[in-house]
Amino acid sequence: MKNFEIVARVVEVLPEELDATQRMLVEKAKEATYRSYAPYSHFSVGAAILLDNGETVVGSNQENAAYPSGLCAERSAAYYAHGRYPDALFKAIAIAARDTDGEFCDAPISPCGACRQALLEYEVLAGQPVQVLLAGKDKVYVLESVKSLLPFAFTNFS
Ligand code: THU
Repeated sequence: MKNFEIVARVVEVLPEELDATQRMLVEKAKEATYRSYAPYSHFSVGAAILLDNGETVVGSNQENAAYPSGLCAERSAAYYAHGRYPDALFKAIAIAARDTDGEFCDAPISPCGACRQALLEYEVLAGQPVQVLLAGKDKVYVLESVKSLLPFAFTNFS
């Protein structure tokens, strides 16, 4: 028998400790929360993806009266990014959320399982880690890759 542990390495930083690009990405994720369509949950999520062609693509959660038909901010952004720029590789993603009271969540939120799987696809395509910035009100969790959010992931590529 063999035991092993899977460790997710997370670095918590203050927003002012981010570099200029990371700060820009977090700002865009925060702005995107204002374009969320969340009449059912009243929980507004924004995501901003930096591509290797220098473009930044944003997305927000889009809900639907038939609840499962809605889509999270991360997948809205990722699918749009790859549809719009099919040759560009993902470099980083920032995610932010505002709670039902309209305030930015104190604690960073973390993507749902389906979004982790979807984002991993683009990390594998990129052939390099996609940095993940989970932005809370006064702190940001920095993860060096999507894979660290989804250990034991299913992938067809590796
Ligand atoms: N949501 C996201 O957009 N991203 C996440 O990482 C978690 C949840 C959305 C889905 C739904 O519109 C609302 O937040 C409440 O779950």
